[in-house]
Amino acid sequence: MARFLRNCWYMAAWSHEVGEASLRRRLLGDPIALYRRSDGTVAALVDRCPHRFAPLSMGTRDGDNLVCPYHGLTFDPQGACVHNPYSDQLPKGASIRSFPTVERDSIVWFWAGDEAKADTALIPDFSMLMISGHGAPLSGYMAMAAPYEMGIDNLLDLSHIEFVHKGSFAGMGVIFAGEHSLRQEGNRLHSNWWMTDVAAPPHTFGIYNPQMRCDHWLDMRWDAPAAMYLQVGACPHGESRDGGPLAHQAHILTPESENSTHYFWATTRGFPPTEESDAMLNGLFSQAFDDEDKPIIEATFRNMDGQDFWDLKPAYLGIDAGGTTARRILEKLIASETAG
Ligand code: FES
Ligand SMILES: [Fe+2]
Repeated sequence: MARFLRNCWYMAAWSHEVGEASLRRRLLGDPIALYRRSDGTVAALVDRCPHRFAPLSMGTRDGDNLVCPYHGLTFDPQGACVHNPYSDQLPKGASIRSFPTVERDSIVWFWAGDEAKADTALIPDFSMLMISGHGAPLSGYMAMAAPYEMGIDNLLDLSHIEFVHKGSFAGMGVIFAGEHSLRQEGNRLHSNWWMTDVAAPPHTFGIYNPQMRCDHWLDMRWDAPAAMYLQVGACPHGESRDGGPLAHQAHILTPESENSTHYFWATTRGFPPTEESDAMLNGLFSQAFDDEDKPIIEATFRNMDGQDFWDLKPAYLGIDAGGTTARRILEKLIASETAG
């Protein structure tokens, strides 16, 4: 069975990563060149010249077109060959695939499937990243040598905080004091943790007295294939949640290949940023993702020795219902897309 859903929006990059020069990024197995046209919109083309397969991202720009660095064929942002330096004739079949893109909430999305089906209403909403009132969100990127489904397992089952993130998000038993719930709305999942009367979690430092008892929530929304939006909330124990979450986060995964993943993350801040507080948050997130999640996920993948996830008959703990359900939804969507 195909491993990737094609008719959906995937994150290609953070907006700030894409400029006039081409950014080469492997997405769903294909090398893609991303660059900004003169009107500010983003072009996405397969980064492989149809002549001798040179990376166009190594070439130069001619207006909005890309000039191949090897023998100079020129391609427009739709991938059509528009100039042949050796003849007035354009070579037959010398076009490359391009992808529709949309930029929203500081995210560059691209549509990987049938262009006629590229409906922008299907783009998951991450507008909460932009309206926190404390500046642009803090964002980052991590490369992960494991399939994207393993990243979904990790993010839809935050019980791992207690074991994996002892050094950063430090569960301190809050997960064991909490309740997990899973709700499905069509192809969307809500995998939520609710923890009452717990010590103030690290996200509240600087807002609440660290001695205070809190009610704490971690509400994760998942949209196929792998766009996750997390609300991190805490309020004084017994009080209302109406003040809203302390932080809105994006955890968005895009397959680089079948066995490697781009992990894009972002978080709003619960307080006006200073250089010091941003350095602290960056340090916390890089520790959590690079030093804690990445090693365990990659080691887990290596430990599967290339065997199929279901063939290995994974034990079921209940807390992992989110990841399991997401896998089933994805399999169903990919099967129906393949059949269609
Ligand atoms: S490889 Fe691009 S023009 Fe020859
Ligand atoms: Fe984690």
